[in-house]
Amino acid sequence: MNLKIGVFDSGYGGLTILDKIRQHLPFYDYIYLGDNARAPYGSRSFEVIYRYTLEAVRRLEAEGCRIIILACNTASAKALRTIQQHDIDPSRLRVLGVIRPTVEAVRGQYIGVLATQGTVQSESYVLELRKQRQLQQTGSDVDSGVSQREGGGMLHITQQACPMWVPLIESGEHLAAGADFFVDKYLGELWRKDPLIDTLILGCTHYPLLLPKIDAWIRAHVNRQVRIVEQGHIVARSLNGYLSRHGDIASVLSCGGTCRYLTSEQADTFNRSAGIFLASPIQSEHIDL
Ligand code: DGL
Repeated sequence: MNLKIGVFDSGYGGLTILDKIRQHLPFYDYIYLGDNARAPYGSRSFEVIYRYTLEAVRRLEAEGCRIIILACNTASAKALRTIQQHDIDPSRLRVLGVIRPTVEAVRGQYIGVLATQGTVQSESYVLELRKQRQLQQTGSDVDSGVSQREGGGMLHITQQACPMWVPLIESGEHLAAGADFFVDKYLGELWRKDPLIDTLILGCTHYPLLLPKIDAWIRAHVNRQVRIVEQGHIVARSLNGYLSRHGDIASVLSCGGTCRYLTSEQADTFNRSAGIFLASPIQSEHIDL
């Protein structure tokens, strides 16, 4: 068989995941699909995110994918479960998300979650963290702060939506001086809600592209050790484990070490920006979704 691994995101963010997956599993063939023409997804309704994500999944399936990673937290939070339960035949296609493996890798007591508005509102991180630690809820506050008892200690989860970060990244302005304003705004808001944060989840696959600025902000404003959780290696390791457990899927994947890039935007625009994010030139193909 000659089937591929599909990697989907609303735009460029999923490249941060693809890059790490290809480091861990270089021999497989991949198809990346970025719906750049309709990004960002983060502030859109459930119905729209579900419809767009399903269109992308169908397209990747038609292109010959046997397994698809939704390398997008927003799509993982809003569309994954419905697609898994209603839209695909698991004997022909598997669709996996990025939130569960991320949560499984998180340690720490004071957890900050940076994500899109859609991911924050879905409460997926809060629910998955709760489930993961098998905690009994002892209290919660509004504004997405949740406290739970774990043994004698308390787990604190504080979320912060960062609606301007994806547009900055999609437009290539994320490392410009002007981006500092929105880095300071959202990180400042998060740390005012909980100054004790020891673990920071980058819960949007675009955000690692802002890492230099996030790192600099934390060094300048926070007087304690903060573990930053990036999803790339975590998702790559999780996929590796999944394929080891599912030899029937791994055995039908082709092993040419290639990657095709599909975008709903202009191919030239995607090539220019993706080349910067991936640090090597690529040739993409325009598709209509
Ligand atoms: N990179 C995506 C995520 O992880 C989507 C961001 C967006 O399109 O708003 O959430």
